[in-house]
Amino acid sequence: MNIKYNYSLLSHNTFGIDVKAEEFIEFYTVEEALDLSKTLKQKKWFVIGQGSNLLFLNDFKGVVLHSGIRQMKKIKEDDQFVYFEVGSGVVWDQFVEFCVKNNWSGIENLSSIPGEVGAAAVQNIGAYGMEVQEAIEKVKAIDTATSQLMEFSKENCQYGYRQSIFKNQYKGRYILTSVVFRLSKKPNFRLHYQHLEEEVRKRGNINLQTIRETIIQIRSQKLPDFRTMGNAGSFFVNPVVSKVHFQRLQSEYPEIPHYYVSETEEKIPAAWLIEQCGWKGKQVGKVAVYAKQPLVIVNCGGASGSEIKQLAEEIQLSVKNKFDIQLQPEVNYIE
Ligand code: EPU
Repeated sequence: MNIKYNYSLLSHNTFGIDVKAEEFIEFYTVEEALDLSKTLKQKKWFVIGQGSNLLFLNDFKGVVLHSGIRQMKKIKEDDQFVYFEVGSGVVWDQFVEFCVKNNWSGIENLSSIPGEVGAAAVQNIGAYGMEVQEAIEKVKAIDTATSQLMEFSKENCQYGYRQSIFKNQYKGRYILTSVVFRLSKKPNFRLHYQHLEEEVRKRGNINLQTIRETIIQIRSQKLPDFRTMGNAGSFFVNPVVSKVHFQRLQSEYPEIPHYYVSETEEKIPAAWLIEQCGWKGKQVGKVAVYAKQPLVIVNCGGASGSEIKQLAEEIQLSVKNKFDIQLQPEVNYIE
């Protein structure tokens, strides 16, 4: 276990916010995490991954926990699938790269997403027509209320679009230690998202490696690299609205993009709503709406968490006024 006091979180959040944690504790084994869980009862705490989906508003007056559990082991294999248990502290894209190299499919479309395995399973990361829950078999996590290691089947994780039980009912209760993935030995390409198939074909053969390379390229063209410009990817989730509401908007904006959700609901890209409100590429002080993808808010250098939050609130207000849609942040505010 590694404990630090009054510790700068600058290198632990992709927005590049310079705040401090009263305590920062990295654990390396399940046993260490179990011991730690017994000390948290009266304290304010949360678990950080790579800090790629959060915004610090202040110094954190409590304990920030970080998983250093980085084991990866094959636990089962049959004709069709290979099952891997992966520590919650493994860097997500390193695991994706490992699977692609071994020709195991199921997460290749999630290439190059910043973050770690534990957070990926909490957030149900998704991109290019794939969600991580599709490859998850189970999640192992410590219940801090009882200090016991529990196993969650995929069904018990209650996954939905950018949702899981760990973000809702059990928010702030569990510490994830590992995730068991089921990868397919027979490739099962998922290329229906926008022009993905066309782009992959430009590289010749369609295989896991060319899919991964294409996605890395698309992401690097559309999304800012947090190492040069602080950001946390999509700031908002894409809103789901009732069909009635959607039809009302469509009669006014016939070009409105949308995705089918169910007989009664449609999803609208938040990027489009934000662009329509004139925010694309706009800078306010040290904060800006990214010019190539308005769903991303960027720190132009030295911005505070509150300044970023303020711009996010202005965007929410204008989208609400123009479309009567309340955008929800995908980024977690940490007070
Ligand atoms: N759009 C605009 N203007 C723009 C950009 C996009 O109007 O400048 C509209 C277009 O209609 C476009 C649509 O938004 O077709 C969708 O854009 P894009 O394919 O870039 O995806 P997104 O819905 O904005 C989601 C995820 C991303 C993920 C991409 C690709 C959420 C909140 N975001 O973005 O995830 O990479 O799809 O699958 O669902 C992240 O979570 O950090 C993230 C980057």
